[in-house]
Amino acid sequence: MKKIFNAIIDSYIDTKVGITENFLNEKLALDLKANLLALYAGNELTQAGTGNKSGLVHNKNNRSDIIYWLDRAHNNASENVFFDLMDAFVLHLNETCYTGITSYEFHYTLYEKGSFYTKHMDQFRNSDSRQFSMIMYLNADWKKEDGGELSIHHKDRLQNISPTNGKSVFFKSNELLHEVLCTNVPRLSITGWLKK
Ligand code: OGA
Ligand code: NI
Repeated sequence: MKKIFNAIIDSYIDTKVGITENFLNEKLALDLKANLLALYAGNELTQAGTGNKSGLVHNKNNRSDIIYWLDRAHNNASENVFFDLMDAFVLHLNETCYTGITSYEFHYTLYEKGSFYTKHMDQFRNSDSRQFSMIMYLNADWKKEDGGELSIHHKDRLQNISPTNGKSVFFKSNELLHEVLCTNVPRLSITGWLKK
């Protein structure tokens, strides 16, 4: 596990956007995807907002994804495997990079065909608790014409990342403007933030 953790951390240090292909193993990715699809079929996903609880605004003009928060209290086996993995990652990150992360939050995310998320930063205006953003994609057989890239706005260039199965992306929440381009097919992921 340390090898995968170091791979995403090294990639982050080198380029400000850590990317690895196998942060979630194949079985975990499949199990989480099955959970997400079952929640979607059961109408459990809800419109995502663009603020935190005190200033929540539901604005379809900014983002049109639907979400469901993961929680250990669900006693769902694969969610708990996921949380164990994240606990180990946070421990490793804090030990090796002195990041002082004390908590995290993650949700399942589904962008239906035609959905997007306009250019934004992941920190809220009234809270700086979100330190790192992390997205793990659950889309098998993603093709260029499917769209839905994560587009990161660096000072001097755009970096477009396709949401292909098993890929994980890790970056500082208050540093990089980014957007999700319109997707032409359903786009599945787990999205979350490491906090202090
Ligand atoms: C977000 C976000 C990017 C992605 O949810 O804040 O920027 O690729 N997601 O899903
Ligand atoms: Ni974001």
